[in-house]
Amino acid sequence: MEKFKVCIDYVVLQDEELNEQDRILVQRAKDATYNSYSPYSHFSVGAAVRIANGEVYSGSNQENAAFPSGLCAERCVLFYAHAQYPEEVVETIAIAARHSDGRFAEGPISPCGACRQVLAETEYRNKKPLRILLYGTRGTLVFENVESLLPFMFTDDDM
Ligand code: THU
Repeated sequence: MEKFKVCIDYVVLQDEELNEQDRILVQRAKDATYNSYSPYSHFSVGAAVRIANGEVYSGSNQENAAFPSGLCAERCVLFYAHAQYPEEVVETIAIAARHSDGRFAEGPISPCGACRQVLAETEYRNKKPLRILLYGTRGTLVFENVESLLPFMFTDDDM
């Protein structure tokens, strides 16, 4: 038997430690939570991406009475950005969430498996690391690439 261990590299930064671009992106993700359509979960998620041409887009979770028809904030904004600029690299995504009482989540909002898979495909397609900023009121977790969040990711290479 051979035993292995996967280690994940990330840092936790306070607002004043974020560089200006990242601070703006986190703020855009926070702002986007106010456009969330989440009458079922009452959990408002916002995501913002910066693409290589400098444009910033944001999105939020959009729910539906037929539950599987809704979509997470991350996939909303990643699909939208790619639909607008299919040739541009997505450099960074920031994600934030608020509870039903209006407070931002203390801990970082962690993307679901399906969103991680879409993040993985975005990074794979771009052939450049996609940075991930997970905002929480206790600090923002910064991952330098998607693989940190999804080790052993499934990509086109596996087919
Ligand atoms: N949600 C997101 O938008 N992003 C995540 O990373 C986790 C969950 C949404 C889906 C659903 O609308 C609500 O949060 C509760 O799961």
